Amino acid sequence: MTRGKFITLEGGEGAGKSTQISLLAEALRASGLKVHTTREPGGSPGAEDIRKLLVIGDAGRWDALSEALLHFAARRDHVQKTILPKLEAGTWVLSDRFLDSTMAYQGYAQGLGRDAIATLAKLTLDDFLPDMTLILDLDVETGLARATARQDGEDRYERLGAAFHNSLRNAFRDIAQREPERCAAIDASGDINAVQTVLRAAVAARFGLSL
Ligand code: TMP
Repeated sequence: MTRGKFITLEGGEGAGKSTQISLLAEALRASGLKVHTTREPGGSPGAEDIRKLLVIGDAGRWDALSEALLHFAARRDHVQKTILPKLEAGTWVLSDRFLDSTMAYQGYAQGLGRDAIATLAKLTLDDFLPDMTLILDLDVETGLARATARQDGEDRYERLGAAFHNSLRNAFRDIAQREPERCAAIDASGDINAVQTVLRAAVAARFGLSL
């Protein structure tokens, strides 16, 4: 059994990750692969419970370290219960957010620093990383306008203000630059189909597929 590949989509608010992930999953399935889509925080029953603590409520509800610990608790459960079993069964796993979100949000934008996040990642994930990470890059104004149009009440992070979201954008760009072999930065300013075309081409090139 060939192990599946683990691909993550990252980026700020309203970059279109969830739409792009379902289109990418369709393309991979059409090429004959088994695909599971998931998200963070969440993706396993325990992690979905933790998600509620993170995305609902006052913006200042947690300090940065408590918040990072909650994200890592959720992620460890997600990896153990969902991601690794699927990969080992030969299924490709596509996740809407993963470790780079904690690095960008809590490490950079909330100020914990890269070292603290790397230490927690080492402890909880044992060097497990995505095979490929697609970072959707979009200007903050457009992203927030798209994000506030959603009505699901999960807006704790979206209410953090433009300065926070600007540092987030720079954080994701920095992460993409530091790890070019794993990460591909994708311009998310075009329409859905244009972005999907670029994204598929990047995945196809990385894994030798025709999508
Ligand atoms: P979503 O809006 O993509 O569903 O993600 C929920 C929020 O959680 C989003 O505003 C980003 C935030 N988040 C972090 O701050 N750190 C993390 O590690 C993850 C996975 C998400």
